[in-house]
Amino acid sequence: MNIELDYPLKSLNSFGMDVYARKFAGFTTLEDLQELHTTQKEFNQGFILGGGSNILFTKNVDGLVLKNEIKGIEILKEEGDDVYIRAGAGEPWHSFVLYCIEHGFAGIENLALIPGQVGASPMQNIGAYGVEIKDVFYCLDAYHKEDGKMHTFYNGDCEFGYRESVFKRKFKNQFIINRVTLKLSKKPNYHIEYGAIRQQLNEMGIKDLSIRAVANAVMAIRSAKLPDPKIVGNAGSFFKNPEIDIAKFEDLKKEFPQIMGYPVSNGFVKIPAGWLIEQCGWKGYREGDAGCHPLQALVLVNYGKATGEDIFLLSEKIVNSVFQKFTVQLEREVNIL
Ligand code: FAD
Ligand code: EPU
Repeated sequence: MNIELDYPLKSLNSFGMDVYARKFAGFTTLEDLQELHTTQKEFNQGFILGGGSNILFTKNVDGLVLKNEIKGIEILKEEGDDVYIRAGAGEPWHSFVLYCIEHGFAGIENLALIPGQVGASPMQNIGAYGVEIKDVFYCLDAYHKEDGKMHTFYNGDCEFGYRESVFKRKFKNQFIINRVTLKLSKKPNYHIEYGAIRQQLNEMGIKDLSIRAVANAVMAIRSAKLPDPKIVGNAGSFFKNPEIDIAKFEDLKKEFPQIMGYPVSNGFVKIPAGWLIEQCGWKGYREGDAGCHPLQALVLVNYGKATGEDIFLLSEKIVNSVFQKFTVQLEREVNIL
């Protein structure tokens, strides 16, 4: 296997951070991975890289970066309208969504155009426009970095939450996800309740709803407000939308009547962090090449030469000012390295 030394990661992370990995290896099979496990002393501490679209590198990686490139899409079985479909972790997520749409398999059309690879999708339970991967997730197969065995995790084992899973918490850095199986359906269950989708479908003159039409609407909305990382470095939403208890929400509403909130579980309300950040005056702010996007305040951007440290420092200022104004603590969604 080819081990690269001092390998540039700039084109492998969507923020475009100009950092290096002391050691780097890509793997396309389980056998490659096992070989890396037995030959590389840094294997257990190795960092797994997917598409690099949810990472902020603040420094060079002084260790081993393992890039998961396991490919392949297989239809495992069909049972009535249900379809069990498995994809390799190294498949680009959006191509997988398009593959499912072409085959008439419904369930992930609202997740079109999310960057990154299939393997990372359960890590933070990717979500958009009223759907999360947990809604269609069946199981995944992951390699344990210590015991060198493959383990299967079913939906209930993953402890999915809003941008959360067991792989970000108690099993953090322990498993390498190699394959993901979804349970999709040949009978669509459309999720167009998200206001902007309905409006977009109307604007597109769609009369007959289809999963392709929903995906096209989602893609149009996303393209209009999220910066394309090929043009401006970013990692999507930098922070999570905070969930606060209803009493606190009611207090905030007295002081800030325009504040929005969506009830979630157990008496909590989710409030849009983009709105909080905008209210603090950050939207469109730029400091050197680090900035807060002019169309979506939740997205921090690298206009070219910002370092990970520059972006992180800007995020600190945003966290502090949102806390000062609203006494709401923002939590970063992006993985900081
Ligand atoms: P990476 O960034 O490479 O990795 C993310 C984390 O997962 C790291 O901790 C890494 O170690 C780990 N990891 C990656 N692959 C594996 C693996 N095979 N096994 C174990 N660990 C692994 N996210 C959403 O949820 N919804 C959105 O709407 C959304 N929109 C976005 C829009 C833009 C413009 C951008 C740039 C990002 C957006 N994201 C969104 C965030 C991002 O696309 C997702 O989090 C995506 O799943 C990250 O995939 P990745 O392959 O790039 O992961
Ligand atoms: N808003 C503002 N100002 C802003 C940005 C947003 O007031 O600068 C308001 C909007 O007007 C809207 C509300 O905030 O009323 C929500 O905005 P939007 O629909 O754009 O979604 P979001 O909450 O900012 C979340 C996800 C996105 C996902 C979209 C669509 C998180 C952290 N982010 O963003 O995911 O694509 O909803 O479902 O939950 C990502 O994770 O990287 C990501 C892009």
